[in-house]
Amino acid sequence: MPRRLTPEIMDDPGQDEEAFRGALRDLERLNRMTFAYAPTLCFLARMARGRDRLSVLDVGAGGGDTLRRIAAWGARRGIALDLAGLDRSPWAQRHAAQAGTPARWITTDLFELDATERFDVVICSLFAHHLEDPELLRFLRWLRARARRGWLILDLHRHWVPWAAVWAGTRLMRMHPMVRHDGPVSIRRGFSHADWKELVAEAGVEAKIRWVAPFRWAVSGSGMA
Ligand SMILES: C[S@@+](CC[C@H](N)C(=O)[O-])C[C@H]1O[C@@H](n2cnc3c(N)ncnc32)[C@H](O)[C@@H]1O
Repeated sequence: MPRRLTPEIMDDPGQDEEAFRGALRDLERLNRMTFAYAPTLCFLARMARGRDRLSVLDVGAGGGDTLRRIAAWGARRGIALDLAGLDRSPWAQRHAAQAGTPARWITTDLFELDATERFDVVICSLFAHHLEDPELLRFLRWLRARARRGWLILDLHRHWVPWAAVWAGTRLMRMHPMVRHDGPVSIRRGFSHADWKELVAEAGVEAKIRWVAPFRWAVSGSGMA
């Protein structure tokens, strides 16, 4: 399956708040059903080894559900967390606040983030496929520069199995029309192992590329301490 960059409805700035937030609610359902938080929490456990505090930025944080999971994980482990969520959509900020996300929120395009902002760990989930190749190269270097300890990209494996599962599942579960459209489109915008190998080599960034269930790539690297 070649990477196909069909536009996602979610990226259309003309979307109204109700539609965007409806899609965020269904994304959270999908994240829960696909155990999407586990690889991020495993990565954070490694990053937190030998430490009792950690600052974490979630890029393309959507409705903040990953940050809420991270907050609960930190509380269980007794790790003091300084959490931040970045998303360019103002609807994301409102949704995350109303859901009680315990994080500072930054509403901006990621490349517009203040140059002084750095974090121990920078993560993102289901975000990288929103970027085109030149932006992905920039993003990989951006992650390395913004993270002191490490960074993680968790994103979709472009493959017909998840494509069919998402196409059918979002319809069977009567998910929001935006998710029914953007779900399969996102998988076509997703990645193969070869894509990531090429991208990290071209960006000049050292990274580990790991397949994680169900049909995701976890790409991670060290920051600039
Ligand atoms: C598919 S959602 C993922 C949300 C969440 N991370 C999750 O796992 O469900 C992608 C999010 O990235 C945001 N986004 C897309 N491009 C962005 C950019 N250039 N800068 C900041 N946020 C962006 C969108 O507004 C959207 O909320």
